[in-house]
Amino acid sequence: MNFDFTEEQLMIQESARDFAQNEIAPTSVERDIKAEFPTDIVKKIGELGFLGMMVSPDYGGAGMDTISYALAMIEISKVDASVGVIMSVNNSLVCWGLEEYGSEQIKQKYLVPLAKGEKLGAFALSEPEAGSDATKQHTIADKDGEFYVLNGIKNWTTNGFSADYHLVVATTDKSKGHHGISAFVVEKGTPGFGHGKKEDKMGIRSSDTCSLTFENCRVPKENMIWDEGKGFNFAMNTLNGGRIGIAAQALGIAEASLEAAIKYSKERKAFGKEIASLQAIQFKIADMAMKLDAAKLLTFKAAAMKDAGKKYYAEAAMAKLYASKAAVECALEAIQIHGGYGYVREYLVERYLRDAKITEIYEGTSEIQKIVIARSLLDAK
Ligand code: CAA
Repeated sequence: MNFDFTEEQLMIQESARDFAQNEIAPTSVERDIKAEFPTDIVKKIGELGFLGMMVSPDYGGAGMDTISYALAMIEISKVDASVGVIMSVNNSLVCWGLEEYGSEQIKQKYLVPLAKGEKLGAFALSEPEAGSDATKQHTIADKDGEFYVLNGIKNWTTNGFSADYHLVVATTDKSKGHHGISAFVVEKGTPGFGHGKKEDKMGIRSSDTCSLTFENCRVPKENMIWDEGKGFNFAMNTLNGGRIGIAAQALGIAEASLEAAIKYSKERKAFGKEIASLQAIQFKIADMAMKLDAAKLLTFKAAAMKDAGKKYYAEAAMAKLYASKAAVECALEAIQIHGGYGYVREYLVERYLRDAKITEIYEGTSEIQKIVIARSLLDAK
């Protein structure tokens, strides 16, 4: 078993780190407070190739592997988890799905600008009454000649406000259950397509999340992804890779929490010495480091399996489940080590906790990850 990254992977990690520290960090606190979308930063990460990392160069992407993507996600999310999720959705939920299942026409028209970072994408599966129970899609797509006519509401769409292209899942034949669900690319500005209000979130505040509304929204039939009735399988297969991205986002937050805890514990004095010399603090730091490392191993294992073309859905679920838990626990311990200072905005650790929590919820809650893992072993419901 080889635990070394290749030179190329390390180069990508370094370039993501440099960009994150120099270009993202200076404005991240202000954007969190104002809940401001990082438009200029997203444009720049697109120019650097971070929005289409795994897409083939034939379609405008950087042609990198999933391990490189996870390394970049960690560095970016370590500094700003909001930028992390914007990047993750575009890479793993939008570009990956289009490259894997889109027609040549869809790839040329939508994937190329998304992979080059000229356009931004969103993935719309959840609905007011279909979150974890994702097969219960109430959004309807009725065929009408050369078009499908969409009616319904999507919820919790990351990049929902800023995206140019939305991958939307809808029911085309209710009688067939989840095999009657299809997926479409819907362009912003299509008549009948609208946004709900931007959600005022606890964390990842500078990413935008909103509901989407469809009222007799006519989408050309060639915008269907894969085949009619394949939309649910498309969403599930795509989310498997998305879960590696969110695991990496969680790793970035956990790593930032650990580094903040170490730094502060060496600066802060109590009982006549640095608190880092107290076993109560050392035990916390040891636990944080162990959880972070275990989460990294799970995440890179899932990424390596995906790169090797192996079945990786249970491994991706384990990585997300464990890394998100580690991120919340590391952020909580970082706050505890900072004492009262950890509870105020002056130090970043309170944001780490707010940002970490969502990683246990989106792209499948922790409870859903357990279902996916258990079913992979039991092959039963
Ligand atoms: N990978 C591939 N296929 C999967 C899968 C996986 N992880 N999980 C389920 N499937 C497939 C099954 O194989 C089955 O396919 P076939 O019938 O074609 O063989 C189909 O999906 C239905 O599966 P089940 O019969 O097991 O359906 P279920 O209703 O009992 O359970 C579920 C399905 C696993 C709970 C699924 O609904 C699920 O994953 N829910 C969570 C949804 C989710 O992650 N939502 C996040 C939305 S995106 C987001 O967070 C917003 C954002 O912008 C970031």
